[in-house]
Amino acid sequence: MLKINTQSEWIDRANTVLPAGGFGNFDPGIIIARGEGSRVWDEDGNEYVDYLIGSGPMLLGHGHPEVMEAVLEQLPKGMTFFANNARGIELAEAIVDAVPCCEQVRFVASGGEADMYAIRLARAYTGRDKILKFEGGYHGMSAEAQMSLAPSRRVNFPQAVPDSAGIPESVAEQMLVAPYNDLEAVENLLNEHDDIAAIMVEPLQRIIPALPGYLQGLRDLCDKHNVLLIFDEIVTGFRLAFGGAQERYGVTPDICTLGKIIGGGFPLAALGASAEIMKHFDKAQVGEEGWLMQLGTLSGNPVASVAGLKTMEVLGREGMYDRLREIGAELQKMQVDALTQAGIPHRICGDETLFDIYFTDADCRDYRSAQHDDPQRGALYNATLRANGVFKAPGKVYPSLAVTAADLEHTRLAVEKAVQAISAA
Ligand SMILES: Cc1ncc(COP(=O)(O)O)c(C=O)c1O
Repeated sequence: MLKINTQSEWIDRANTVLPAGGFGNFDPGIIIARGEGSRVWDEDGNEYVDYLIGSGPMLLGHGHPEVMEAVLEQLPKGMTFFANNARGIELAEAIVDAVPCCEQVRFVASGGEADMYAIRLARAYTGRDKILKFEGGYHGMSAEAQMSLAPSRRVNFPQAVPDSAGIPESVAEQMLVAPYNDLEAVENLLNEHDDIAAIMVEPLQRIIPALPGYLQGLRDLCDKHNVLLIFDEIVTGFRLAFGGAQERYGVTPDICTLGKIIGGGFPLAALGASAEIMKHFDKAQVGEEGWLMQLGTLSGNPVASVAGLKTMEVLGREGMYDRLREIGAELQKMQVDALTQAGIPHRICGDETLFDIYFTDADCRDYRSAQHDDPQRGALYNATLRANGVFKAPGKVYPSLAVTAADLEHTRLAVEKAVQAISAA
């Protein structure tokens, strides 16, 4: 007889073989069985409108027919070759066409890896070691990136605090940490340190928007001090606009990293810059000393490449980003209306294409001010949404283009329940 596993059986099995019962990414109390379009189902058959969308890649929804067709066409021809392949070259061309700072790209398998190489590239290019990042900024899991991402301890800027065990003290010494959205703090650090290779920034930090003029201010300071500007566009790339945050905000970094959407749901990420900077990946141009050795088994694999290419082709069609923004705006409005009516302090923080609610009246301009959020209220709100068929991450709503009018209506009813729950608590 066929054995059907319930969600709780899967959770028990996960607890045996996975530390903390999970992959480390997300609440291990839910096991996703499948996704289709705007929806996902758990192993008990519960259905949800999905605003997690794989943490960003599935912008077109799950199993988009054209992406599926491209992947299914590629699969019998080969899944990975390690060697150059035409699909990967086409993907590189498409990225170079779309993203202002990219004259060349190098593929890797994950966003964190792209960020790690972006840091190394900046060091190779400038011959300097220090990296300036922002408190609360996320750049993957390398030792450098794990500095002051979510510090529980408040220290004075620019001291870096590791968020993880296993990171040598010496790494913290190479990092300078500043508050987001504070140009004066950055300027002071640039005046005090002449050994900074790059400033690394999320153009939308988690969900905190850059204040008007802030990114241009960083650009100007970098130019003045001869420091490279790295935009981490793993999330914002092909989401905020086709050309990413750099297109949306009109500020071009020296190096950017891309991930999530460009692999169409498969493991693929990239970093890109001018040919002048990227030459450090080419030993023939820079010699042994300047060469940045880089390779990876899955880099540029053709399945991820065709999925990414097709995703980008669909996104490039007329009106796609207007539609995404309309969906996001409607999701924001329904929550603002319900919370305002209930008299609950709140603030939508972010962009229509990626945002969430902070349960506070205070401004959200950096990591510390975002701490005014009420996490218990947020947890109850999110749990009630989930109990009513809306799936999201704590701290983020990712709208997708697969969201329909019926999904929005379903979400509106769940929001009403969630607002009632926090009003009653
Ligand atoms: C801004 C940013 N940088 C880097 C990463 C790391 O990407 P990956 O999870 O593919 O390693 C993420 C992941 O969410 C991210 O949001």
